[in-house]
Amino acid sequence: MIIDINNLLRDNIKKLTPYSSARDEFKGEASVLLDANENAFGSPLPHPYNRYPDPLQQQLKSKISAIKGVPTNHIFLGNGSDEAIDLLFRAFCRPGIDNVLLVPPTYGMYEVSANINDVAIKKVNLTTDFQLNLDAMAEAIDEYTKLIFICSPNNPTGNSIHRKDIETVIAHFNGLVVIDEAYINFAKQKSFIQELTEYNNLVVLQTLSKAWGLAALRIGMAFSSAEIIQVFNKIKPPYNINEASQQLALEALEKVDQVNAWIKETVAERDQLADKLLALSFVQLVYPSDANFILVRVTEPKVIYQYLVDRGIIVRDRSSVIRCEGCLRITIGTPEENRQLLEALTDYWV
Ligand SMILES: Cc1ncc(COP(=O)(O)O)c(C=O)c1O
Repeated sequence: MIIDINNLLRDNIKKLTPYSSARDEFKGEASVLLDANENAFGSPLPHPYNRYPDPLQQQLKSKISAIKGVPTNHIFLGNGSDEAIDLLFRAFCRPGIDNVLLVPPTYGMYEVSANINDVAIKKVNLTTDFQLNLDAMAEAIDEYTKLIFICSPNNPTGNSIHRKDIETVIAHFNGLVVIDEAYINFAKQKSFIQELTEYNNLVVLQTLSKAWGLAALRIGMAFSSAEIIQVFNKIKPPYNINEASQQLALEALEKVDQVNAWIKETVAERDQLADKLLALSFVQLVYPSDANFILVRVTEPKVIYQYLVDRGIIVRDRSSVIRCEGCLRITIGTPEENRQLLEALTDYWV
């Protein structure tokens, strides 16, 4: 759908005069920088960390733009995708008035961010095969519903959401549809970033924390219309991505071949691990996964979780999450880690 973004924005954000940093006001070459109260003598480290970083991360965005095929003015970089999620609430949802639609079981930060921002949550559970319940979603939406979060591949279930169903939501919803593609690199499905030219109510989240192996750098990406990216830039903290992260990410993004090899290996390990787990008597179900983890239904989730902890192996107990009763979520490790997991579980069975 093509919507009026300005209409969707909170009034205070519309009227906001953004903070203007020293590096916003002066861009270009200069030999004497006395505008930002930095330490003029230098940094105790070899890199000139005494200087504030580029607030809009142009170099890093250019590199991401080349990889993703999305122009830089359609890219926002956040301190993890979690920052982008929070900014969406702050820009578009009036505390105590507006609401968002979530489709559990799904990634927990949407709910936490909603609660932090005092924004009501409507929930329509995924169906038992972890797909969208479109009729119930249409019924739940009201004039105050501003955002719908769809995670695909979904955490913690691992499956991709049917593309046609997501398209139906985007085509009919008069607010923003946020598609969280944190695990897209492991999926058979195509990303929705190619659809950005079709709709202006679409925000696609991706991250360098998963396949790219850079969780510690905290770099999340939001791809959207230039209008929405401008809103993000207006309200974000001025220097939200630090210089070390920007430089290290630029270096890492050169290593596409290494990352692709890891993705291949992870997917192969995932499929093998799924088969081997299924052979264990206490494993009832391994759900199909398009991600770098699998959701496994077992007979005694809490006991097995603790059994693994006692052997130094930590998985995620999701058994108290709706529709995930009995389930553990297991991240795919290295072949050696997966071997250790299987060895421990085989001993449990004996
Ligand atoms: C679906 C999903 N989105 C976002 C994130 C967070 O990503 P980031 O590290 O970029 O904040 C996670 C992390 O587990 C996730 O599972």
